[in-house]
Amino acid sequence: MQLVPNPQAIRAAYPAELKTIMSIAEARRTRAWLAPWKHLAPEATPLWSLPKLAAQLGLGAVWVKDESKRSALGSFKALGAPAALSRLVLREHPAWDASGVLRGDYRAKLNGLVVISATDGNHGRALAAAAQSAGVRCVIVLHQHVSAEREHAIAAFGAEIVRIEGNYDDSVSHAAQLAEANGWRVVSDTSYPGYEEIPRDVMQGYGALVDELAEQGTEPFSHVLLQGGVGGMAAGVASYLWEQWGAQRPIFIVVEPQQADCLLQSALNGVASKATGSVDSVMAGLACGETSPLAWRFLAPTVDFFLTIEDQQAVDAMRLLAHGAMGDVPIVSGESGAAGLAGVLALALDQAFRARVGLGPEARVLVVNTEGATAPSVYQQLAGRSAEEVLLAQQRWQTT
Ligand SMILES: Cc1ncc(COP(=O)(O)O)c(C=O)c1O
Repeated sequence: MQLVPNPQAIRAAYPAELKTIMSIAEARRTRAWLAPWKHLAPEATPLWSLPKLAAQLGLGAVWVKDESKRSALGSFKALGAPAALSRLVLREHPAWDASGVLRGDYRAKLNGLVVISATDGNHGRALAAAAQSAGVRCVIVLHQHVSAEREHAIAAFGAEIVRIEGNYDDSVSHAAQLAEANGWRVVSDTSYPGYEEIPRDVMQGYGALVDELAEQGTEPFSHVLLQGGVGGMAAGVASYLWEQWGAQRPIFIVVEPQQADCLLQSALNGVASKATGSVDSVMAGLACGETSPLAWRFLAPTVDFFLTIEDQQAVDAMRLLAHGAMGDVPIVSGESGAAGLAGVLALALDQAFRARVGLGPEARVLVVNTEGATAPSVYQQLAGRSAEEVLLAQQRWQTT
């Protein structure tokens, strides 16, 4: 476990130059466009309070924004890829109806378009579903560590699968090469030099989940813990809250697997960097070796601390959430989904860390459960309960 303060973090109003890239106004617009999409839940995702856990940890409050309920696609990524695909189409056809793209209104006109992306699972699944809704051909590149279970979930939406050796970062390069060779369009959740517009749209889509928070009546938060893969989710969420609260923004802490610490390394180096470890983790969605440079532009000035955790800590947090430990609500939270809460536990239970990040009885902590049981058999094995059992326990908890 490593905790690194970020010397580049500032407390100031949200800078105008960042606002031209991502803004509350565009997050809100994206939310409105996506609202009618059949794969998204019509209502806001729950914001659960865990008062018993908070008391046990000596914290004022702990909230979980539960993205496992966003969509049958299983994760918050259901907000990113469809937003980016819609915006890609609308840039070329500005007169088209934004919500009509995912309704399939332009299916006949879009049949020449082919989209491609690499994925650890969740982004590819969301892109495949969005492409199927729009009537667009979709190719998904998977690296060797993506499970067959996750592959089937993507293929179920009609995507063509390409398997490669290597890790996530190799699959990103492979997707870019295939796109170049075939004239396909990359719809990636990570940026690289010369490729920023679409990953920006993906991150902006994640802002929709923060836009709901404002209506859920628990702000302001003192601490927000965000799990990081390439940094897109953290950038989408933090940029929104920074714009909203300016210099009074919460303390942001990014949590990563210690073997895939590209964001922590970026903080140490002062520039978007690569991970030092093996880049293989039970937290499959966070097993990314390279920071998204565009995400880093937002994270460098906003994230106060970077924390790495061990796989077992994520598994412990999954179990705690699944079993509704201490009498709080049971929540389905997958390997990457539980990483934010694992970070809260790691910090709150260590006196030195606790003091460094300012966690105490006044703290109002937010985490985002970014996924449910996206690989159901892995989930059951690690959480010690199936997702169905957890949901039943959740229903019982709500009625007692
Ligand atoms: C469930 C889950 N949580 C968090 C993340 C991290 O998002 P990002 O790569 O944008 O940092 C991912 C990425 O795939 C994910 O699948």
